[in-house]
Amino acid sequence: MSLDQDTTLPLDHLVSTMEARLDAWRVLNAACRAWAATGDETAKQAVEHQLRCLRSLEEFYAFPGRQLMGNLAELAAEGEAAGAARLSARLSTALLSKSYHSNPGEWDGDESSLDNADRLPPALDGNGGDVHRPYFEVLVVTPTPQAKWAEVSREMRRLRRRQDPFVYELVIVGSFEDAALGAVLNPAIQAVVAYDGFPFASQHDVPLLHRFLQAHVPPGAADLTGEAMTPALVRMLKNLRPELDLYLLSDRKVEEMAANPELACVRRVFYEVEEPLEIHLSILKGINERYEAPYFDNLKKYSQRPMGTFHALPVARGKSIFKSNWIRDMGEFYGLNLFLAESSATTGGLDSLLEPTGHIKTAQEKAARAFGADRAFFVTNGTSTSNKIVEQALLRPGDIVLVDRNCHKSHHYGMVLAGARPVYLEAYPMMEYSMYGGVPLRTIKKALLDLKAEGKLDRVRMLLLTNCTFDGHVYNVRRVMEECLAIKPDLIFLWDEAWFGFARFSPFFRQRTAMGAAALIKRAIAGSDYRSALEAQRREVGADPDPADVRLLDRRLVPDPDKVRVRVYQTNSTHKSMSALRQGSMILACDQDFHHIEEAFHEAIFTHTSTSPNLQIIASLDVARRQMELEGYEMVMKATQLALIIRREVNRHPLVSKYFRVLDLGEMVPADLRQTGLESLTSTDWTKAIESVWNDEFVLDPTRLTLVCGSAGFDGTAFKGLLAEKYDIQINKTSRNSILLQTNINNTRSDVAHLMKVLVDIATGIEERLAAGGEEAVAAFQGRVAALMKDVPDMPNFSRFHDHFREDPHSTTSEGDMRSAFYLAYDEASCEHVKLNSREIDRRLKNGPELVSANFVIPYPPGFPIMVPGQVITAETIEFMRKLDVKEIHGYQASLGLKLLNPKALVAQPVMRIEVA
Ligand SMILES: Cc1ncc(COP(=O)(O)O)c(C=O)c1O
Repeated sequence: MSLDQDTTLPLDHLVSTMEARLDAWRVLNAACRAWAATGDETAKQAVEHQLRCLRSLEEFYAFPGRQLMGNLAELAAEGEAAGAARLSARLSTALLSKSYHSNPGEWDGDESSLDNADRLPPALDGNGGDVHRPYFEVLVVTPTPQAKWAEVSREMRRLRRRQDPFVYELVIVGSFEDAALGAVLNPAIQAVVAYDGFPFASQHDVPLLHRFLQAHVPPGAADLTGEAMTPALVRMLKNLRPELDLYLLSDRKVEEMAANPELACVRRVFYEVEEPLEIHLSILKGINERYEAPYFDNLKKYSQRPMGTFHALPVARGKSIFKSNWIRDMGEFYGLNLFLAESSATTGGLDSLLEPTGHIKTAQEKAARAFGADRAFFVTNGTSTSNKIVEQALLRPGDIVLVDRNCHKSHHYGMVLAGARPVYLEAYPMMEYSMYGGVPLRTIKKALLDLKAEGKLDRVRMLLLTNCTFDGHVYNVRRVMEECLAIKPDLIFLWDEAWFGFARFSPFFRQRTAMGAAALIKRAIAGSDYRSALEAQRREVGADPDPADVRLLDRRLVPDPDKVRVRVYQTNSTHKSMSALRQGSMILACDQDFHHIEEAFHEAIFTHTSTSPNLQIIASLDVARRQMELEGYEMVMKATQLALIIRREVNRHPLVSKYFRVLDLGEMVPADLRQTGLESLTSTDWTKAIESVWNDEFVLDPTRLTLVCGSAGFDGTAFKGLLAEKYDIQINKTSRNSILLQTNINNTRSDVAHLMKVLVDIATGIEERLAAGGEEAVAAFQGRVAALMKDVPDMPNFSRFHDHFREDPHSTTSEGDMRSAFYLAYDEASCEHVKLNSREIDRRLKNGPELVSANFVIPYPPGFPIMVPGQVITAETIEFMRKLDVKEIHGYQASLGLKLLNPKALVAQPVMRIEVA
């Protein structure tokens, strides 16, 4: 993903276009200024060259548009250096500030003799008064000759009315490929109007586009002609940006088109010669459906009503605050609206989160649409609670769950509560950095096949994985689900996408989200691909292969479309990657059998949801959805770009890279899980990069950056402290020798500049200290670096559950009754404490009786449980604990020692067995 500030700005930058576009304008400005200052011919040529490059790109944006760009080119051609410099500076400032959204003056070209009336969009002529009307652009795909495009734009502008809630401009293109480019390059595009009969090929030569499109269009689209092209366009656009509203215009049988299932996602089909006002109104209506945030909109209205409150929530209306002698500053700090918008009632349209029937229900339906789910549920206690809700709803006591041991602790507690029996799967370790990656698919399949061999497949209910992981490892979600469904067709998947909710709005990562992959699987079931692949599989390994057959581990397994049930859940911390208030979270479901568990689902909601949910969090979930549906694409692409910039800048800066490094794909994902062999996220081999995103077993979310700081002599915790205290930089998590930085939709290039400046500052400080301290200081520094980077304790694998918590100690599968162990520890007499460094520990490790953990022990970092209730503690775990130099270890009090289950309790006291459901 190259971010080279290439002055030629090839169109194939795709992901990097938005920032690259602004950079290209800056280059043009500088060239114009240089030309104006020197009058030099070479400087003039530089301007002309840059203009040529920019003009092809600018065809995909309404502003500055063909005419202003033409105007600029004219000035350059006529040798008007000062005029060109002025116009170029003004246009790029307008682009940067987006002032052209609301200021009609920006569309004016004072340096030309062209007719300004032609350029000025009438709707921006001030008719709208001071009311802010959001601006967007509409992509028109048409076979009409280019000479007529300006007239089409003018005609649409004439339809604008003072009362329109939004204002838009047209971007007109003439082919399928240019429509793809427009949708990819221009994030302001919100709707597409396609006239029947456009050709396929772009007039631009963009080799990457063809590769990129292969993943998004049906095979053979290039050979389609005429009306057959339209469904392919619709599918391509929906694959790229599902939020876009699509409209078709045709002079053929529009009724047939409207009934064509392939065009079901088209909002309206128009007969071409009909009233254009209908199109205009439909476009506005479509945007309004995304813009409306029913819960938030109602809450605003509610807050303005004079309300007498006789319920329990004194802060509602704010009178106890604003009239107070002592806490008035609270009101001043938060502002009146917060209190006006507070209530403990469910009347006034405020609805009930526990049983929504009004605005919350509608807001959830909109969220489901936005995130590609069948159902969405708002949760106001974070994804910690979302996870427990899903687990309680779907898991019955005794059910077996395959789960990454490295997953968030809410899952472990969720399984205790549900009485489910975990089979802990090991993610691949990254020992040098004291962290884990994801669980290889082979490991997952092996666990499933082993359970099948033991006759326990019926009891396996769920596969639970974190996608992406804290450190950014992204699964090949579709492939994992397909292969697991091939072994167990009704397996339920819970993907903890706490960090990855934003990925829905990235055309690269959407198919690697739970909902994106579920949609692809549903489509594949409906098609014929699985059937033919399944036949081939049966010919090779038989219809009911022996689970011990190793070929099942090696080949890509295909599910049986006649048996498979698509049951996929995703939880996301909306507050972690979108504009929701803290604890705002969502559960998304794509479950064909939801009706079977609907009641259990509601029970789980009742169990875990406060009866006083925070209204502001609910409203923020509604608004976060609105934002993502309207500008998520732009923001997510920008966050990705910024991450790529940081990666590139840190790793190539001569001084910074001496001490710091952002780990790249090759260091975060083992080679055998990267089938394309792509090593770097900043690779310029785009074809391979796209191939990798589609097919590799693991890829890396670029926005999660592991910055190695051990090589600068800092452990993660110390470096985190330094950044926060001295440089006002807050970061995410740490490991022994690294910190995790994250870019999100909130970041700007200034943030990146600040970070770089800080790293330069710190690196300079190290250099100075080493220079001043002489050999001794250098030796001490190297010693510290070696200790942090090389002397890293091995991370212990999950050992096993004690036999007392296993149904059959001789079983080859590892599931255990963690809940019984957990509750056994509630009986004080069944527990004992042994000091970590005591001889007794070593003695018992050698001679027994086994040390059995009474509870979860979770050190931060790394943040995964090194002990779970009922787990036999091994020498490796003890060694790891003894070497741990972190202060925060949940479940462990150094003054008391390790909390163990008393050997007597494990022998004498019968453990309550939970009946297998
Ligand atoms: C993978 C994962 N899941 C769930 C959670 C819990 O999310 P929340 O903080 O929204 O409760 C976290 C929190 O860091 C997490 O990392």
